[in-house]
Amino acid sequence: MYSLVKYLPAGLAHDLAPVGLRIYSDLCGVQKTPEWQSFTWRGLHFANRLGIAGGVDKDAENLDQWQKLGCGFVEIGTVTPKPQRPNPGRILARDWEHSNLWNKMGFPSAGAKEVATNLLHSEHSLPIFVNIGKNRNISNELATANYLESVEVLKSSADAFIINVSSPNTKDLRELQNKDALLQLTSAVVAKAEKIPVILKLSPDLSLSQLQESIEAGMQGGTSGFVLTNTTTHRPSDCFFPLDGGLAGKDLAAKSKTFLKETIRILGTSRQNLLLISVGGVLSEKDVQERLELGADLVEVYSALVFQGPGFFQKVATTFQKASLQ
Ligand SMILES: Cc1cc2nc3c(=O)[nH]c(=O)nc-3n(C[C@H](O)[C@H](O)[C@H](O)COP(=O)(O)O)c2cc1C
Repeated sequence: MYSLVKYLPAGLAHDLAPVGLRIYSDLCGVQKTPEWQSFTWRGLHFANRLGIAGGVDKDAENLDQWQKLGCGFVEIGTVTPKPQRPNPGRILARDWEHSNLWNKMGFPSAGAKEVATNLLHSEHSLPIFVNIGKNRNISNELATANYLESVEVLKSSADAFIINVSSPNTKDLRELQNKDALLQLTSAVVAKAEKIPVILKLSPDLSLSQLQESIEAGMQGGTSGFVLTNTTTHRPSDCFFPLDGGLAGKDLAAKSKTFLKETIRILGTSRQNLLLISVGGVLSEKDVQERLELGADLVEVYSALVFQGPGFFQKVATTFQKASLQ
């Protein structure tokens, strides 16, 4: 049944997804979050280690449904302080043959105030990571104040913040990963967030020396972890996606794994208590297992929801629960 989604245009499938999600979670959802590899970090309890990535539920509209599907946690956003529309023109495409997604959305957001209201009215009990970004009309020079606006509005409902400085779809955003800019932004957000952990989401298009610099700047600024990685502007040779925008899915997997391994190597013994979240090209139970074995604390998916459908979380839970009995 889910495979019929393939025949819908990408934009229509995306717009219908919340309706499908409600129906599916009512019919096939679980009462209790499946437990596998449960753990606690900074007082947050994760019944399991698989959740949705930034961009899946930008405005926190479906938290109860994610819980029913079996997510161990949810990352909402990217949220911008003021509401904004998506980029004009085509913003989403799928390559079913290669299990890749392309997007050029540019942070469509209901804005921090509306997202805060949505969070307040939801009945979920999952850890919530709130991914924040800047409005596209704000220059990098004024970015810090813009990020702080969202922190102020969302701080009473976030279990942790994720600073998004890695989307390719907001002009010059990724320059905020540069050492000085990142140190300034991270320190300011950490100070404003007070006791709430702040995590950085990085781009797979950094060179390994840039990755090292970003990690060092983040650490100096007081970050509590890293999400590796956002989408890439690189394209495999037989790819029909436009050259602008970001690619996710299968062909991001190798880069995402390299960045996880490199981050662990760079952090060395300073990794203690930091949270490492692996995302990018996780499309099967085996992929989830591989990321955890490589050293990720948590794993996230976006493309798997498109290519495998909403039953993915329960499928993974069954595999891990069976394995723990053997
Ligand atoms: C349509 C689409 C929208 C996305 N929107 C966001 C976003 O708003 N914020 C963000 O941090 N990442 C966003 N991402 C990136 C994902 O969070 C994730 O890093 C990327 O898709 C790689 O994971 P995947 O291979 O499982 O899809 C988006 C990805 C896609 C495909």
